[in-house]
Amino acid sequence: MQTHESLSQLSVSEQAITHFERFFDAAKRPFVVAAPGRVNLIGEHIDYHGLPVMPMAIQKHIAVAFLPRKDRLIRAKSSQMVGAVEFPLTPPFLACEAGNWGNYVRAAAQTFASYDTLRTGFDAYVASDLPSAAGLSSSSALLIAFSLALLQANDVQPTLNELTALLPNGEQFVGTRGGAMDHIAVLASRAGFATLIRSFSPLEIEYVPIPQEWRFLVAHSLVIAEKSGAVRAQYNSRREARRRALQKLGFESYAQVVDRVVYSNASMLSDEAERDAFLHVTSEARRVEHAADALRNRDITGFGRLLYESHVSLRDRLQVSLPELDLLVNTAMDAGATGARLTGAGFGGCVVCVCTAANIEQVRRRLFQTYFAGKPEFDPDTHLFVAQASAGALM
Ligand code: GLA
Repeated sequence: MQTHESLSQLSVSEQAITHFERFFDAAKRPFVVAAPGRVNLIGEHIDYHGLPVMPMAIQKHIAVAFLPRKDRLIRAKSSQMVGAVEFPLTPPFLACEAGNWGNYVRAAAQTFASYDTLRTGFDAYVASDLPSAAGLSSSSALLIAFSLALLQANDVQPTLNELTALLPNGEQFVGTRGGAMDHIAVLASRAGFATLIRSFSPLEIEYVPIPQEWRFLVAHSLVIAEKSGAVRAQYNSRREARRRALQKLGFESYAQVVDRVVYSNASMLSDEAERDAFLHVTSEARRVEHAADALRNRDITGFGRLLYESHVSLRDRLQVSLPELDLLVNTAMDAGATGARLTGAGFGGCVVCVCTAANIEQVRRRLFQTYFAGKPEFDPDTHLFVAQASAGALM
C-alpha cells in the first residue's frame, strides 16, 4: 500500500485514481478528467463586457477519477475538501450553505439539467494541486471537471461552444456570475500558447505562441480571494458601475465604444467611480490588443509595460488591488521583472510577472527573501511557481 508521502509524488490524476480505488473499493479502473487552472496574462474585468482577453491554462489542475453507476446517485469525495457529497441526479438541485464544495457537483448537475439524456450518476474522487481562492480559476476548473465527468458518464459529447454558453451561468450556482474567460481557458488552451479570446460570441480564439525564453512567474499574496464570499459583492459592484457608465453614455456595449474610439466621453460622467470604471474597461481592451501584438512580435519589454499599466489601472481606477498585491508587483519590478500585475478578479490571490529565462531566478529569489520571508504558511510549490502554458481539459 502507498504511504501518504509516496502518494504525493504521484501526478494529480494518479492521486485521484489511487484514492478512488481505495475509497470506493473499485473492481474497475476509473476514468479520469483533468481540468487545469489558468493565469490571465492580460484583460482583466472586461470579459463579461464581451471584450478580448488573453489567459493561458497552467500545469496545476483538478482531477476527478470517476466511474458511472447503474443508478442516478452521485457520490463524491475529496482528499482536500471536508465531507462527502451524495445526492440523486434528479432536479431540482438545491445549493447547500455557501462555501460547501458539494455545490460544485450540484452546479454541474444543474448546468446540464436540460439534457434529458443525463440519467446515470457516478462515484467520483477529486484531487488537486491548484490553489483555491487564488485568482487561478479553481472554481471554474472544479465545475468543469465535474461537468465533464457527468457528461462522459452519460456518453454526452458537447461542443466547446455549448459548454462555454452554459458554464458561466452554471457557475452562478456557486458564487459569482463572471464572464466566460475562465471556462474557455480551462477547456480550450493549448500547450505553449497564450489563448487570445478575440470574441466570445461567436467564439473566436487565436493561439499566440509564447517565445521560448519568456517566463511567467506566479506569486500568491497569501490573501484568500474567496469568490463565493465577500469578493462576490465587490466584484458585482465594479461590474454594476461599468454597466451604469455605459448606460449613461448611451452605448449598448463596450465593443461599440472601443470600436469607435470614443474614450473622451468619459469626461461626461460626473460619478468618479463610474468614470474610472469606464476608463479601465476601455483602456484595458486596448492593452490586450497591444499585448497580443507584443507577444506576436516577441517584444517582451512592450508586453511587460502593458502588464504593469494594467495593474496600475486595476489598482487606481477599478480599485480591486490590495497593498499585498501592490507590494508583490513592485518588488518583482524592482528585482528586474519586465512586467507584473495582479491576475484574476483581485482582492487577494496572485500576481503574474513576465520575466526572461535570464532574470527569473533573481526575481523569484527576491520575492522569496522579502515578501515570503517569515511567513509559515508559505509553500514554494503552491505560492511561487513558474506557470507553464498548458493544454485545456478538452485538448
Ligand atoms: C473572475 C471571473 C472572470 C473575470 C475575472 C476578472 O475570474 O470569473 O470571468 O471576470 O474575474 O477578469
